[in-house]
Amino acid sequence: MSHGFDTLAIHAGQDPEARTGAVIPPIYQTSTYAQDAVGAPRLGYEYSRSGNPTRDALQECLAALEGGPVGLAFASGLAAEDTLLRTVCKPGDHVVIPDDAYGGTYRLFARVAERWGLDYTPAKVSDPDAIRAAVEPGRTRIVWVETPTNPLLGIADIAALAGVAHDAGALLVVDNTFASPYLQQPIAHGADVVVHSTTKYIGGHSDVVGGALVAADAALGEELRYHQNAMGAINGPFDAWLTLRGIKTLGVRMDRHCDNAERIAAYLDGHAKVGQVIYPGLPAHPGHEVAAKQMRRFGGMISFRAAGGEEHAVEICNRTKLFILAESLGGVESLIEHPGRMTHASAAGSPLEVPGDLVRLSVGIETVDDLLADLEQALG
Ligand SMILES: Cc1ncc(COP(=O)(O)O)c(C=O)c1O
Repeated sequence: MSHGFDTLAIHAGQDPEARTGAVIPPIYQTSTYAQDAVGAPRLGYEYSRSGNPTRDALQECLAALEGGPVGLAFASGLAAEDTLLRTVCKPGDHVVIPDDAYGGTYRLFARVAERWGLDYTPAKVSDPDAIRAAVEPGRTRIVWVETPTNPLLGIADIAALAGVAHDAGALLVVDNTFASPYLQQPIAHGADVVVHSTTKYIGGHSDVVGGALVAADAALGEELRYHQNAMGAINGPFDAWLTLRGIKTLGVRMDRHCDNAERIAAYLDGHAKVGQVIYPGLPAHPGHEVAAKQMRRFGGMISFRAAGGEEHAVEICNRTKLFILAESLGGVESLIEHPGRMTHASAAGSPLEVPGDLVRLSVGIETVDDLLADLEQALG
C-alpha cells in the first residue's frame, strides 16, 4: 500500500521498537554489537560504521521520501558528495558541474577532486543545450546539477537533463537540498542519484549537520553503501535521530516556508531599494514554468540584488534583527547572508563567482508580518 508524503515522513523506517514498543526509534549510541557466535552477528549488526539501527531508520525514511530503493546518511552533505564522486568516478574521468552551485561543492570539484585527476566543466544548468555541449560522451561520468541553485536560484529541467546525461552514458545527479523531497522528487523525473545536505530543510532546526544520497537503482545504491562503509563518512546515531525528528514535520514546515517566501518575494519585487528579485515563484523568473512543472511549490529561498550595490547589500545584512546573519539555510528561523563574502567566498575569481550586490534570504516559519517589518527597516 502506498502512503502520502507526510505519512511516510512520520512512519517510514520508524515502526515502534520491537522489544519495548518505543514509538520513537531509540538512539543506538554504540560502536559495536555482541555476536551470538563467531560469524553470526545479531540481525546483521557488527560495527556501527557498517550498520546502526538509528541510522538505518533515517536511511529507510530518506529512501521512501525520495522514491528510491536505497538511502544513505552521511556526516555532512559534502561527505555524501565525496563518497558519490569517488564511487562513480576514477582519475581521468570528467564531470559537468553547475555554473552556479554551493561554494563548498565547487571547492570539492575544483580544489580536491581535480587534484586527484577528475576533470570538470561548469555549464549553465538552466540551459540543456549548454549542458549537452559540455558533456564528453564516453568520458563524462556525471552531470551534476542543483535545482534551485545556490544562491542564484536557477532552475534545471530535470527530465530534459536526464535525457542529455543518459544519451552520453553519464549519470544525472541532482542536489535537492533547496527544494527538499516534499517540493521535488528528482528520481521521478529521471535522476539517478539525489544528494542532500540534510543540515538544511530535512533536519530543519539548525541543530545538526548531515548529508544523504538516494539512488534510483538498487545496484548503484549497494555500491554506494559499500563505499559508505569503506570510506567511513557516516552519520552518527544522535545526528540521525535529530534528523529523523526534523523529518516528521518536513511537509508542514515547507508549506509555511513557501507561504512566507511568496509574501516576501511579492513585497521585495518592485521595492525602490531592491533591484532584481530572484524567486522561482515569480512569473518573471526565467525558470518559473519548469519549476511549476517539477516542483509542488517554489520553496523558502529568495535572493535579491541591493539597489545601492555591494555596500548596500552588506548594510542590509548587518541591519536585520529577526533575520539572523548566518550561513546555512532551511531552519525554522529566518537567516540572511551575503553570499559573495560568506557561503560563496570559495568561488571568488572562478566562473561561479556571485555578484557582490546579492543578498540571500532563507525565509523561516515565523509570523510573516514580523519578517516584512524587519526587512522594511533593514532596506534603509
Ligand atoms: C545546495 C547545497 N549542497 C550541499 C551543501 C553541503 O552540505 P553540508 O554543509 O551539510 O556539508 C550545502 C551547504 O550549504 C548546500 O547548500
